[in-house]
Amino acid sequence: MPRVSIDGVAVDVPEGATLLEAARAAGRDVPTLCFDERLAPFGACRVCLVGLEGAPGPVASCTTPCREGAVVDTRDPVARRVAGAVVELVLSELPEPPAAHTELAAVARELGVGAPRWTGEVHGAREDEPPHPYLALRHELCISCGRCVRACDEVQGTFALTATGRGFHANVAAGIDEGFRASACVSCGACADTCPTDAITEVSLLALAAEGDRA
Ligand code: FES
Repeated sequence: MPRVSIDGVAVDVPEGATLLEAARAAGRDVPTLCFDERLAPFGACRVCLVGLEGAPGPVASCTTPCREGAVVDTRDPVARRVAGAVVELVLSELPEPPAAHTELAAVARELGVGAPRWTGEVHGAREDEPPHPYLALRHELCISCGRCVRACDEVQGTFALTATGRGFHANVAAGIDEGFRASACVSCGACADTCPTDAITEVSLLALAAEGDRA
């Protein structure tokens, strides 16, 4: 059972635990974006950076295993600065600020990131997908964290979602890019539950009822 130091606090963690798990065991909050404890670590976003004594630079805490005697600084200024820049870049590609209740908004607040200093080209908006009765997909809010694809795969075992494109054009597609309705989606909602930006949301029963009332 490795013993590690998190911000000066010694914690014993199970063999194979990550630095993020050790930080949480020590009561320290490290912001994350592509991480969901229900899913296998992915290590894509680099928002969970921490300082690790002896390492050449900050490391991703969600994928770095604890070694005996590791000394971690969750408030490392370089790690925080890089993580903040990553979040600012993510925000710069969105058509609007993230809704206050989203995980992305919470992470931005935690890292002190406000409105981005620049705006990128907004990609992904689609009007051509037939609406699904229970799920709504706004491609332009996708930040390609991969959580929905992994939730569909690892939680539900359905493989209804696929990561598409590269770089600025990275996004998510339902089925073979024909929308949720024609895909293998079973409406379990795991994708909406893990989405940190509201790119995938569950259509509320109240909204459906209101629509029915109007019809
Ligand atoms: Fe660790 Fe994304 S949360 S790399």
